[in-house]
Amino acid sequence: MTVVLARENGISPEQEADAARIANAPLTIRGLTVSYGDKPAVFSVDMTVEAGKMTAIVGPNGAGKSTMLKAALGIVPALSGRVNVFGAALETQRGRIAYVPQRASVDWDFPTRVIDVVMMGLYRELGLLKRITGAHRAAARTCLERVGMADFATRQIGQLSGGQQQRVFLARALAQGADLYVLDEPFAGVDAATEKAIISVLKQLREEGKTVVVVHHDLATVADYFDNVFLINTRKIAEGPVQTAFTAETLQAAYGGRLATAQVDQLGAAAALHTSQVGAT
Ligand SMILES: Nc1ncnc2c1ncn2[C@@H]1O[C@H](COP(=O)(O)OP(=O)(O)OP(=O)(O)O)[C@@H](O)[C@H]1O
Ligand SMILES: [Mg+2]
Repeated sequence: MTVVLARENGISPEQEADAARIANAPLTIRGLTVSYGDKPAVFSVDMTVEAGKMTAIVGPNGAGKSTMLKAALGIVPALSGRVNVFGAALETQRGRIAYVPQRASVDWDFPTRVIDVVMMGLYRELGLLKRITGAHRAAARTCLERVGMADFATRQIGQLSGGQQQRVFLARALAQGADLYVLDEPFAGVDAATEKAIISVLKQLREEGKTVVVVHHDLATVADYFDNVFLINTRKIAEGPVQTAFTAETLQAAYGGRLATAQVDQLGAAAALHTSQVGAT
């Protein structure tokens, strides 16, 4: 009966199933095309981010990873496409998203203390006119503690190392109390200790039922860190659980000749091995 009705409305069962995915997913992108000039940086991309999972966005330099996220979040204009956040328009859901941009794009040339950077994450709650209270400061401090940066609260953000800044930006995202966390290369240029600290915070968020999307370059850790993967090279190459979407074939398609065959085979095998280990426990 439902099917008949759907057909009468001109909606196919596939469209109906997709409408259900769009209604339930933290983030869906449909038919997204973005162009800075003549050549699209992102072409006709569909993405469905699964709730409560950690998803890696993977692809070579210039593949359009940052552009796709910026367009999805309304930071750069799209030529076409539809984006839904928790089934609704982005504008109504902004408070549920925390976004940490790629580090190179943040320039701190004015003096700001670390604790103030984190409190910026509270601004939705604070509004423009409300006074900052001790409770707000305490909340910001707790977020700094979660990323191991409490001792740096009164330092100038510009005086921190890149890895330390990255931790502070994660603390600011935590202060937002969002449901969807989008991080563009949080591990770029950070040392092993910072990487471990960041991944453990992200895994905690997942345990709290939050959804995490991360642009990630280190192919060797994809299977270890993430549930799902989204491979892109201007167009979508593959999407799904790491075990099925992160294979020698999809990697080769995303990176072309830029990865040695041996390396690709090894990574595909590593993802498959990860599956069997997960399956065995
Ligand atoms: N502001 C801009 N103006 C013009 N072209 C841009 C701009 N930003 C990005 N591009 C171009 O769009 C394409 C995609 O860039 P994007 O930054 O999205 O790639 P990326 O996958 O995030 O790469 P990386 O891994 O290096 O961060 C590239 O060819 C890039 O040169
Ligand atoms: Mg980028």
